[in-house]
Amino acid sequence: MTTNVRIGEAAELPQSSAVAVPVATDEQGLLVPQGLPAEVLGRTIPSQLDGAWAEEQGFEGKAGQTLVLRALDQPSLVLVGEVGDADEEVWRRAGAAALRAAGRARALAMLLPLPSTIATEDVARAVVEGALLAAYRANVAKTKPDGSVPEEVVLVPVAFEGLRDEDRAAVATGARHGEVVSGAVRWARDMVNRPADRLTPRLFAREALRRLEHDPSVTVEIWRDAELEAERCGGLLGVARGSLEPPRLVRATYDPGTEGAPHVVLVGKGITFDSGGLNLKSFEGMTTMKTDMTGAAVVLGALSAAARLGARAKVTAVAPLTENLPGHRAMKPGDVLTARDGTTIEVLNTDAEGRLVLADGLSLAAELEPDAIVDVATLTGAVRVALGPDVAAVMGTDEALVQTLRDHGERAGEPLWELPLIEKYESHLESEVADVKNIGKPGSAGTIVAGLFLRRFAGDRPWAHLDIAGTGRAESDEGYLTKGATAFSLRTLVAYLLSR
Ligand code: BES
Ligand code: MN
Ligand code: ZN
Repeated sequence: MTTNVRIGEAAELPQSSAVAVPVATDEQGLLVPQGLPAEVLGRTIPSQLDGAWAEEQGFEGKAGQTLVLRALDQPSLVLVGEVGDADEEVWRRAGAAALRAAGRARALAMLLPLPSTIATEDVARAVVEGALLAAYRANVAKTKPDGSVPEEVVLVPVAFEGLRDEDRAAVATGARHGEVVSGAVRWARDMVNRPADRLTPRLFAREALRRLEHDPSVTVEIWRDAELEAERCGGLLGVARGSLEPPRLVRATYDPGTEGAPHVVLVGKGITFDSGGLNLKSFEGMTTMKTDMTGAAVVLGALSAAARLGARAKVTAVAPLTENLPGHRAMKPGDVLTARDGTTIEVLNTDAEGRLVLADGLSLAAELEPDAIVDVATLTGAVRVALGPDVAAVMGTDEALVQTLRDHGERAGEPLWELPLIEKYESHLESEVADVKNIGKPGSAGTIVAGLFLRRFAGDRPWAHLDIAGTGRAESDEGYLTKGATAFSLRTLVAYLLSR
């Protein structure tokens, strides 16, 4: 079930089942928002909470902490920690914490004390994103669906000096933006969490079409068997040989139709299941590999959100989709594939398949001569060793593009750390028989060497590569993340696209 969002009035708070009250702290203790209409809540909340009392309840008012005060005939009050000089990410976490603390409440009202340290629109957007993402339930194939979520989140802006019309308008705009972005993330999480037998390349292409075909100014093309041959997608077809399921390539375009609009092409890795191919993965290595199409879900979701929010830039998303299986026609170590741009690739490890399908995707992107190319891929296990589960790697040929993505990532709570494309390691990719081989030296800068491999196919356009193999999955429900798919970098990309 999806949670509805609307803007409400302070007067309706007594009818809510839970009311979230963001609190700030100063030297004296916890401060509840000025302008909070204490009387309509039907109980006395001093404007200054007793810090010692709150601490005894285990609530220090830290960011993301909550304290629930229950009463028989009144709404539960959920105190939500530290929004003092909050940035966007603090508000997002506050929205998520409030939603989680609200438990089985039918409706959650969230007070938004204004003005904040950031723009009102951003506060509303972040709170809605946090709440709706925390309310995500995977709902894959359980006959009894997991725990309920509130039917609605009601944003209640309050201001000590009285609420102005423009505040309300900003809250409404931000809330709508938050709904669209979290809707796209929820769709991407659904795709990623779906088992590979229920999301083959054909089924994924169909879902992408269903999602995108009614989005404003969006056209969707699906390349099938003969077309992929005619279009010389040798990397994608090579990986697909090991499977009975035919590959697909989804190309979606959002064109606002304005003369001179910048054009951004997004490319996403879409391996709907990565067994490793003949270089078969281990039991541990294979268990999560239905998620190896996260990049594709992220770029298609980002395009959808950008279209629904009326981005000024033109956006194309390219998603090569295939399984990587060791069937009897599977590519073998030593085989040579010819990518779309004519580059010959010696496949020395069939488990380094992502870069083979991205070679075609990036070539296609470069042919469109866009202003920027960004690819997103669960590409290397090595990136999790380097940066862990919370930070993704970014590499690229254009400093400004990399920096912009990092800035948007920071604000979105999806931090990106830049790794260097070390020229000397180009030598690791030298093949004796082809232009390039698909692996470097074992245990030696695997994430960077993969980046160097991809760079060859991006042409002379500003290009950046996000390796989200470490960040694409969450081990548990925490904050606005839910166990399983995170769709990491989708919100960063939407913010980036809207800024162009
Ligand atoms: N899909 C994997 C990378 C991956 C690993 C994603 C763990 C998410 C979690 C990718 O196709 C792969 O197998 N990469 C190899 C590359 C190697 C053979 C050069 C790897 O990282 O081991
Ligand atoms: Mn692999
Ligand atoms: Zn893979």
